[in-house]
Amino acid sequence: MTADLFEPDPALAGGTRRLGAQALLLHGFALPWVDALWPALQVVIAQAPPRQLLTPGGQRMSAALSNCGAFGWVSDRRGYRYSAQDPDSGRPWPALPVSFLALARAAAAEAGFGGFVPDACVVNRYAVGARMGLHQDRDERDLSQPIVSVSLGLPAVFLWGGARRTDRAERMPLRHGDVLVWGGVDRLRFHGVAPVRTAVHALTGAVRFNLTFRRAG
Ligand code: SIN
Ligand code: FE2
Repeated sequence: MTADLFEPDPALAGGTRRLGAQALLLHGFALPWVDALWPALQVVIAQAPPRQLLTPGGQRMSAALSNCGAFGWVSDRRGYRYSAQDPDSGRPWPALPVSFLALARAAAAEAGFGGFVPDACVVNRYAVGARMGLHQDRDERDLSQPIVSVSLGLPAVFLWGGARRTDRAERMPLRHGDVLVWGGVDRLRFHGVAPVRTAVHALTGAVRFNLTFRRAG
């Protein structure tokens, strides 16, 4: 990694910010997909309603979680893991909607990760006040595959940390339609979400959704 990677990069389009050697914030990248994503998301959450999971330590998470795709991320007293079934229904998770897959692949390619084929999409629903503490995404088998994270609805402040939990985290506003992609040397960066502030979004109401695409299996 060299210092000049953090200088403005003339090759990047106006709405793009580099957050690391292999991490990009693509402002508004998902906006052209929203008309397809939103109804598809309603189908997913009707089949697998978001629920507030327990951490292994017994805390109730403030964001409510669902999944679509072959694998879903779950947490309970036994730990964190990927599961092919929704533990609430015993059924497979809803299929990954075509529009979700197309957006995830396009965003990954834009950030230099061609050929990304996600098999898991975590859906997090944040009501006002919900947050997510600093963590790494490290339950996936193949860490050479990136993370693609799509924000919909209410804005939030994303906490973009370093390789260690104690590294200073940058506070980065995320808006409706923003997409973050991180992988490679940045794949295990700590990250989180500050408590969502009271507001109403024209599409989602008083809610923020985040879709996180991974290659889990
Ligand atoms: C996550 O890291 O799992 C969610 C991030 C977000 O909601 O933006
Ligand atoms: Fe995460």
